[in-house]
Amino acid sequence: MAEKPLYIVLIGAPGAGKGTQAALLEKELGIPHISSGDMLREAVAKGTELGRLAKNYMDRGELVPDDVMVKVVLERLSMPDCRKGALLDGFPRTPEQARALEEALSKEGKTISLVPYIKVSMEKLLERLAGRWICRNCQAVYHLVYNPPKEDMKCDLCGGELYQREDDKPETARRRLEVYFAQTAPLIDYYRQAGILREIDGEKAIEEIHRELLALVAEAMGDDCP
Ligand code: AP5
Repeated sequence: MAEKPLYIVLIGAPGAGKGTQAALLEKELGIPHISSGDMLREAVAKGTELGRLAKNYMDRGELVPDDVMVKVVLERLSMPDCRKGALLDGFPRTPEQARALEEALSKEGKTISLVPYIKVSMEKLLERLAGRWICRNCQAVYHLVYNPPKEDMKCDLCGGELYQREDDKPETARRRLEVYFAQTAPLIDYYRQAGILREIDGEKAIEEIHRELLALVAEAMGDDCP
């Protein structure tokens, strides 16, 4: 892990593989994986005020309001383990969230190093969301066809029970994809213009995408060298 802070924003539609890749990268880069969706699901499970508010939006496949999300994620980013950087998954999701993140980082003289955009066709996205199972205990992500657990419905890592997300039901999944194309996809051009977007074919095998991401990280860190 290099000394210079490394902030990576993973962009891609629901089901593109952001969480899968972030979990693999986290182990090798030594920076925390910050998933806004996981943070919200944890709040829902605990029944906190944030969880109760977020559930209304998540169950419908809509975005939680920007002011709420910005506060939650920036608070997390201000924690000591994020001093060397973070792998952001699911945030920012709107131009307003992107501006808030940039402002917060620039106050500390930091910038986003890399925005990998994981591109997957609509047909594949729906197939992935329909077949996704998650560990209730450690949040590890599986797919019944592409990445099945070794033992039936049990997590390989901790033995926890696997479950399907409520918002992966076909109707809500479709709505999430509509919301993504309307509200989040504009960020692709925003980061492309900033010169930090790198497109990845998200239909390759999980390991191959991981290797490509590591190469992109190495390139981004190289660019940062004086
Ligand atoms: P969130 O949890 O962020 O969901 P998402 O962005 O919709 O992304 P997903 O978690 O569905 O997909 P992923 O890209 O991580 O794919 P995964 O790796 O699991 O958000 C949920 C909700 O929270 C939102 O709808 C919103 O309400 C709210 N929210 C969260 N953040 C917010 C924000 N910033 N602002 C406002 N609201 C917010 O992979 C999917 C499946 O495919 C898995 O089964 C996996 O095993 C499989 N797979 C992965 N890669 C491959 C591959 N290469 N080949 C074959 N299969 C693969």
